[in-house]
Amino acid sequence: MAYHKCINCGSRYGIDEIVYFCENCGDILEIKYDRGELAEALKDNKWLNMPLSVWRYRHFMPISDDAKIVSLNEGGTGFHSCENLAKRLGLRQLYVKNEGENPTGSFKDRGMTVGVTKAVELGVQSVICASTGNTSASLAAYAAKAGLQCAVLIPSGKIAYGKLSQAMIYGAKVIQVRGNFDQALDVVLKLSEKHRSVYLLNSINPFRIEGQKSLGYEICDQLNQETSDRVVVPVGNAGNISAIWKGFTEFHELGLIKALPKMTGIQAAGSAPIAKAIKNGSDMIVPVIKPETVATAIRIGAPVSWKKAMNAIRESGGTAETVTDEEILNAQKLLARVEGLFVEPASASSIAGLIKLVQNGVIDKDEHIVCVTTGHGLKDPDTAVKMSEKPVEVDAEIAAIEDALGLKKQVAILAR
Ligand code: F0G
Repeated sequence: MAYHKCINCGSRYGIDEIVYFCENCGDILEIKYDRGELAEALKDNKWLNMPLSVWRYRHFMPISDDAKIVSLNEGGTGFHSCENLAKRLGLRQLYVKNEGENPTGSFKDRGMTVGVTKAVELGVQSVICASTGNTSASLAAYAAKAGLQCAVLIPSGKIAYGKLSQAMIYGAKVIQVRGNFDQALDVVLKLSEKHRSVYLLNSINPFRIEGQKSLGYEICDQLNQETSDRVVVPVGNAGNISAIWKGFTEFHELGLIKALPKMTGIQAAGSAPIAKAIKNGSDMIVPVIKPETVATAIRIGAPVSWKKAMNAIRESGGTAETVTDEEILNAQKLLARVEGLFVEPASASSIAGLIKLVQNGVIDKDEHIVCVTTGHGLKDPDTAVKMSEKPVEVDAEIAAIEDALGLKKQVAILAR
């Protein structure tokens, strides 16, 4: 039987209790399993023949057998061998795990299918989150599918348009909070403590993390029950890197993989409390009061899962790095132009971090690397348009197009 466990004092809570923080010490919670029960369940290895998806791993999810699964076919995302980019960086092997291929265009769908399935199982009627955009888009979609009321709190003026349009069309109540994400999250945490009937689906909710850990499982399965030497992940509120590490360690404990990858977290320079703490060798983060970055998805100054993320990085022997907005945008463009993968700026921070760590000699060129790109490029079309060459406008005449394409001279040379 699965249960909630405090990551600090070890206090336990029942799996069907609605609890977000430890009632003893106030720290955050994680879900643990009875290892024997899990090993027993896995003896039936039918799951190994199922297609890649979050629900291939149902045995590893804290959902009752008769629960009604709320799914939009999440997971099973592309695992792209990026030979062109690898060649440019002098790397032996590079894969991009492209989470923008999920139903609402980000990795959040892995957590939401489990979180919203649990919400239905618990009998709640209404769900809520604070978000820099992707969580709100995903929650709004899964709540619509499940017939739940949904409210999302977003920082006013700083969310990418694609994400806002998703939350709106899926029918969520969209509330713009005057302030940043950290302030919106703070208020939504207090609200969900006060109104227990409103179920909180930020990544502080451990069921979200359970769904997202499938990203780690999937990487192992796509590498034929192995792992890479290193996994590079963008970090904002720090749930995802914690979840991926949980996936790897669970597979490792069950003997499904032999080695573990070095977890490498990348933050935007203006919003980098975790990367700074790792670099300083500190055990605490210093929250950034006014986080700034073009990668609005990770514009977060006080990541709620910082402790889990720092554990993941340190336990795995990984590292953390910061990247500037310029480095993020250059990496976004490069990935699109040499690999045909269009990802949003926050996602490209993993690529920017990889480039920096290779240049600094921290990453060995012989390492086998997986970069996670977390959200689709169409989430933030404005940034992509702003940084690209403007289209040329011409009359609808062959001569004008020839001119624009520089074709005239070539024709003249051939004719001679
Ligand atoms: N990449 C993208 C595209 C994201 O949307 C987020 C987080 C992250 C990376 C960072 O993941 O928070 O688990 O460390 N977006 C949240 C949201 C905060 O509200 O959509 P994390």
